Amino acid sequence: MTSHSSRGASVSLHDLSFQYGRAGLFSRRPAPRILHDIDLLVPAGQTVGLVGESGSGKSTIAKLMLGLLAPTQGRALLDGQPLTALSARARARRIQMVFQDPYSSLNPRRTINEILTAPLRVHGIGDAATRAASVRRMMDAVGLVPAFASRYPRELSGGQRQRVAIARALMLEPQLVICDEPTSALDVSVQAQILNLLMELQRERGLGYLFISHNLAVVQHIADEIVVLQGGRVVERGPAEQVYFDPRHPYTQQLIGATLAVPELQEMAA
Ligand SMILES: Nc1ncnc2c1ncn2[C@@H]1O[C@H](COP(=O)(O)OP(=O)(O)O)[C@@H](O)[C@H]1O
Ligand SMILES: [Mg+2]
Repeated sequence: MTSHSSRGASVSLHDLSFQYGRAGLFSRRPAPRILHDIDLLVPAGQTVGLVGESGSGKSTIAKLMLGLLAPTQGRALLDGQPLTALSARARARRIQMVFQDPYSSLNPRRTINEILTAPLRVHGIGDAATRAASVRRMMDAVGLVPAFASRYPRELSGGQRQRVAIARALMLEPQLVICDEPTSALDVSVQAQILNLLMELQRERGLGYLFISHNLAVVQHIADEIVVLQGGRVVERGPAEQVYFDPRHPYTQQLIGATLAVPELQEMAA
């Protein structure tokens, strides 16, 4: 999809099932299975949209793709290697995460400059001068004026905070970004701006995205492929336009019916 896609990485789940905890270890009731036989590929430079209602297992898939959880059955791979075999540092260089609530995910006692410098410092990248230059460039790339560097998260709007969270995710130049409901806490007009920013950054950097949302209209806007999750199972998947405009599964039709049409969003992002 982009000119950079050949240098990117892909992340994939293969016939993966998952349950929290171990069945019957502390209780007689087996732990319920959360995910069933999931196959999911996020190709380099592409966006896969993952939709489903609350509790369907979307965030659990995000954690498996970050290597924060290990599959109960099946495999989670980054370019063919088991994610859990990579160190946390190695994973962080290649896959990053953007969360729904940019306020709770940003340390309130750190300035924007400190928040964006931290990943470089932790990973021993550059000296003070090159780190400062990287932070300035990244703030510009996400549309934050230089004066924000000395501000604290509480001094920023929701949309500006989400720009900081996106900038932080990109400081280590990852190839893949998992966005878990990144616009769900924002006003509709701001949602469109953040979606456009994510798409622009993808074009410039050849990023692959797993874009998670309960809102099919939002996902349709950004995704190449859409995967629909119901109760931990994939019930439908296909090219974004097909799934959105010609849904086959009753659950997908129901999700679309529950989503208000978002003409404002479409206009703003056009
Ligand atoms: N740490 C946990 N321990 C046990 N069950 C969990 C844990 N986290 C999530 N769950 C359960 O897993 C299911 C899927 O949750 P989640 O992946 O967060 O769904 P979604 O992101 O789609 O709302 C839910 O039933 C939830 O209660
Ligand atoms: Mg979730």
